[in-house]
Amino acid sequence: MTMEQQKRYGHFDDQHREYVITDPQTPWPWINYLGNEDFFSLISNTAGGYSFYKDAKFRRITRYRYNNVPMDNGGRYFYIKDGDTVWNPGWKPCKTPLDFYECRHGMSYTRITGRKNGVEASVLFFVPLKKWAEVQKLTLKNESSETKTLKLFSFEEWCLWNAATDMENFQRNFSTGEVEIEGSTIYHKTEYRERRNHYAFYHVNTPIQGFDTDRETFVGLYNEFADPQAVMEGKPRNSHAHGWSPIASHYIEVTLKPGESKDFVFLLGYIENEQDEKFEAPQMINKKKAHALIAELDSTAKVDKAFAELCEYWDALLNIYKVRTGNDKLDRMVNIWNQYQCMVTFNFSRSASFFESGVGRGMGFRDSNQDLVGFVHQIPPRARQRIIDIASTQFPDGGCYHQYQPLTKRGNNDIGGGFNDDPCWLIFGTVAYIKETGDFSILDEMVPFDNQPGSEVTLFEHLKISMDHVIKNLGPHMLPLIGRADWNDCLNLNCFSWDPNESFQTTENVSEGTKAESLMIAGLFVVTGKDYVALCKKIGKAEEAARMQKAVDEMIEAVKKHGWDGEWYLRAYDFYGRKIGSNECEEAKIFIESQGWCTMAEIGAEDGMVAKSLDSCKKYLECEHGMVLNNPAFTKYIYEYGEISSYPEGYKENAGIFCHNNPWVIIGECLAGRGNDAWSHYAKILPSYVEEKYQTLHKVEPYVNCQMVAGKDAYKPGEGKNSWLTGTAAWMWYTVSEFILGIKPDYDGIRIDPCLPETATDYTVQRKFREADYEITIHPNGAQKGVKQIVVDGKPIDGTVIPYSAGKHVVEVTM
Ligand code: BGC
Ligand code: NOJ
Repeated sequence: MTMEQQKRYGHFDDQHREYVITDPQTPWPWINYLGNEDFFSLISNTAGGYSFYKDAKFRRITRYRYNNVPMDNGGRYFYIKDGDTVWNPGWKPCKTPLDFYECRHGMSYTRITGRKNGVEASVLFFVPLKKWAEVQKLTLKNESSETKTLKLFSFEEWCLWNAATDMENFQRNFSTGEVEIEGSTIYHKTEYRERRNHYAFYHVNTPIQGFDTDRETFVGLYNEFADPQAVMEGKPRNSHAHGWSPIASHYIEVTLKPGESKDFVFLLGYIENEQDEKFEAPQMINKKKAHALIAELDSTAKVDKAFAELCEYWDALLNIYKVRTGNDKLDRMVNIWNQYQCMVTFNFSRSASFFESGVGRGMGFRDSNQDLVGFVHQIPPRARQRIIDIASTQFPDGGCYHQYQPLTKRGNNDIGGGFNDDPCWLIFGTVAYIKETGDFSILDEMVPFDNQPGSEVTLFEHLKISMDHVIKNLGPHMLPLIGRADWNDCLNLNCFSWDPNESFQTTENVSEGTKAESLMIAGLFVVTGKDYVALCKKIGKAEEAARMQKAVDEMIEAVKKHGWDGEWYLRAYDFYGRKIGSNECEEAKIFIESQGWCTMAEIGAEDGMVAKSLDSCKKYLECEHGMVLNNPAFTKYIYEYGEISSYPEGYKENAGIFCHNNPWVIIGECLAGRGNDAWSHYAKILPSYVEEKYQTLHKVEPYVNCQMVAGKDAYKPGEGKNSWLTGTAAWMWYTVSEFILGIKPDYDGIRIDPCLPETATDYTVQRKFREADYEITIHPNGAQKGVKQIVVDGKPIDGTVIPYSAGKHVVEVTM
């Protein structure tokens, strides 16, 4: 390891549930998310990022420039002019060297502190619960022995609502911008005419001595965020934007005696008005709601109270599942960061991160169902609503829109449907919800197709047609036809593109005559099919259970007959019926997805297939940083395979370490009882372990999983990309909480079935479950698997399910 690789940029502070960044020049912006339900912000360790209401594409409140030079340009900036020195608490954009810098990313809040020449500026950023606003509480403190006279400038740049057209339709945009200024509040009201009924504002709870709302006037046409003219000269221009690029900047003169400190509460808010209450005078926006929102958050005391409520909210959420193993690295991921990331992925699906621009993708059908599994124990009613929203984008034949927009909840026509794994995920998500809550009534909810009123059938019916969609779309080997793609969006077996201007996901999808079948969907179908059968039995639908059991059995047979390659499961058959992921192939002889799903489905376990497949993963896919997606990597584009082979070796779907599917194999290991192997795969991609070893190499945030780590064939194996928004979060959670630590919600109670490395020592899980509260202590006694005895409140029980009953229970488990 070189010196460079050992450099550290931060550390965990478990007591405060924070990651503390001590050097602003992280290898990549290390971000956090603010907001929990409607109003959201992304914030980097230098305060870069943006805010939006519900939908990062259609309601972008502040502007952000992706992939810019320098990196991470634009955000909420405070400029402090102290004599000739201008600095920012978060170092950027001025980059004036600070005497002290610290960024603490916590649970839905970020605190950035900078010190320069005897002044400390500390900003707490958060979105209060149930409020459509970002609070920025700035505390300025004079730590010097002289009186300080400071000039403070705030800064936000407005986005013209639609983040996509904001970046391209300049012939219009440069003429539409409109603002109003009232006291210490700057209102952004672009397009607040007939069609829009929303505006935003930026307020500070103190009189201001000036302002700016026109970017060019404030920054200067040829200046930068690092040296805005108004700031450099210490003089606001009191500009009123008409068109061009509206911004919001307050100017405040601050005098601080030695030791004195002052708080300023800045508030970035969003308001919607009723059509008939839009204006208070011709062309003047109705500010009533803004005034009310401001009044709720216009003092340190009010803001501190709102912050305390946010912290209590997170205390409660993180109290639902808590483990004490004595291994800090495991405990902090399970108790804090993994659960936190699950909430974030639930909220955003794959829409907005520093790798997802917020304009490309809304909520994914398969993504959201998987995210839900990591979140359902936290706030079940929100998971319930999500299931209904997702199911409402299904088509009557069981197919599904691949994505939908969070604002409208409508299926996205640009991408359409045809991804044949999608329907199965609805069962995966719904079963997890019912097991957690015991709420079978969700199955009776009336849910439309494609959001069409009048088309409603029960949610159960949606599950049924989901299963049927698979069996009605089988190929020549009686294996599921893949459609546009399965989980692997880049395995486009019916696409055939030579044109670089085509998107692999939306271009031609030849269904006529195709023989392209997926072993991943086969495994997924068996896993979710078994769940479906169990559910049917549970609700008294014996006939339906039997019907689907038969289909599951047939699928198992088809996999055994046509899906086994000798040492591992095949991946697929191509359009012409040729094997993919076989020893007979020149490249990409083995793929991870089918190993994961077919081992989770335990297909052919009795014939040794599962064990062989898991061994092959270790032998061919595993490397220092995790398991790669396929091996060997593709070295050339294969017209019949699509996007996958368009990636360079070792990246993304071409033999990258897709963290998302490592847990599938880990669960396969757990089901097979191979605890040592499960743990070693798990620890390789566990952020806290990576954090310790590879801060610089890994590059992206060390406190959460990223979607992809460059694989062994890449130029720089171990380099991470696409952090935060990835199914990895939910899958890591599902794996560790249910399969490694072994606490599995089930219809009638909690099933206890850990799978541990033989070095594991006693541990305790505190688990709230429906109206019950369990303290479960596991004594592994060196065993990797197998529960010998469970004692509940002093009484031994039969079997491994703790029968559900409300109240507090103490459970002792001997392995
Ligand atoms: C990426 C996939 C992604 C897909 C969706 C592809 O370019 O490699 O990971 O799922 O785009 O749009
Ligand atoms: C990311 C997508 O969001 C997800 O749906 C897909 O399964 C993976 N990439 C793999 O292609």
